[in-house]
Amino acid sequence: MLEKMLNDFEHENVPKINNYLESNLTKDINQNTLANSMYYSLMAGGKRLRPLLTLATMKTLNQNVNDDNLRAVCAIELLHTYSLIHDDLPAMDNDDLRRGMPTNHVKFGAGMATLAGDGLLSLAFQWVADNNLSIDIKSQLILMLSKASGPSGMVAGQASDIEFENKTLSLASLQRLHRGKTGALINYAVSAGAIMSNADKNLQTLLSTYADDYGLAFQIYDDILDVIATSKQLGKPVHQDNKKNTYPNLIGLKNSYLELEKVLDHSHKTLNQIKENYGIDTDLLAAFLTYFKIS
Ligand code: IPE
Ligand code: IPE
Ligand code: MG
Ligand code: MG
Ligand code: MG
Repeated sequence: MLEKMLNDFEHENVPKINNYLESNLTKDINQNTLANSMYYSLMAGGKRLRPLLTLATMKTLNQNVNDDNLRAVCAIELLHTYSLIHDDLPAMDNDDLRRGMPTNHVKFGAGMATLAGDGLLSLAFQWVADNNLSIDIKSQLILMLSKASGPSGMVAGQASDIEFENKTLSLASLQRLHRGKTGALINYAVSAGAIMSNADKNLQTLLSTYADDYGLAFQIYDDILDVIATSKQLGKPVHQDNKKNTYPNLIGLKNSYLELEKVLDHSHKTLNQIKENYGIDTDLLAAFLTYFKIS
């Protein structure tokens, strides 16, 4: 039942997100090749998980979505796509397939790919700022997004990821790395939804705890998928993490699943607490946890 709920939510909202991205991306780009390069990676597909999480949080909190919210919601997909383009660069993970297509640098060259990433990063902040939401909400979102995406969040995680290639981290350090490189942006996705719904501070904290777990689970599962899935299923190369600190490399596949289960149990507990304390129906957020298939 929860799985169907997630499917239905995706069917309803992925087209909305894609339409918004497709119709608005190139309006603010003043260079044709750059526009093509940014569009290429943004519209190549992708699950749209982060904007979906923002929308799901807003739905859970009974907040309507208008065009101003939607612009801020879609901004995170711009930022996420930048992170993927840079992550794939020859100087980073050096991957040649993303979202089922040749990576941006394979198609446009490393220079243009770097600039497409730069463009998407900046445009994300433009979209969060350039809408009719209240100044208070916008400034909270901008602060939170800069912390989540920048050198205290995702970029810090990515820096540790490359620094510790071929070296072995402790599990605690790897957990910190994962919370940075992937968790920070996922936390922002949920927290942005809470802020746009005017949730009180305690509720924001509880939702942020759920999001932290979701983010960690997401990267543990991504590490697992690199081992067990096919490139066709993922739209990106598999078995690429040999040099990397990943859960399966550190503790093996079986223990990675156990760690994943632990994190998912904790997120269910947090959702139950939200239900008890606030009388809010958290099934939709629980439905997002069915993304993780534990066989
Ligand atoms: C991939 O993110 C990068 C990670 C943080 C693991 P997604 O798995 O959300 O990639 P898309 O957006 O669906 O392509
Ligand atoms: C990427 O982690 C996290 C980002 C910030 C992009 P990975 O390097 O594991 O992501 P994939 O597997 O290439 O999608
Ligand atoms: Mg990487
Ligand atoms: Mg990578
Ligand atoms: Mg990966």
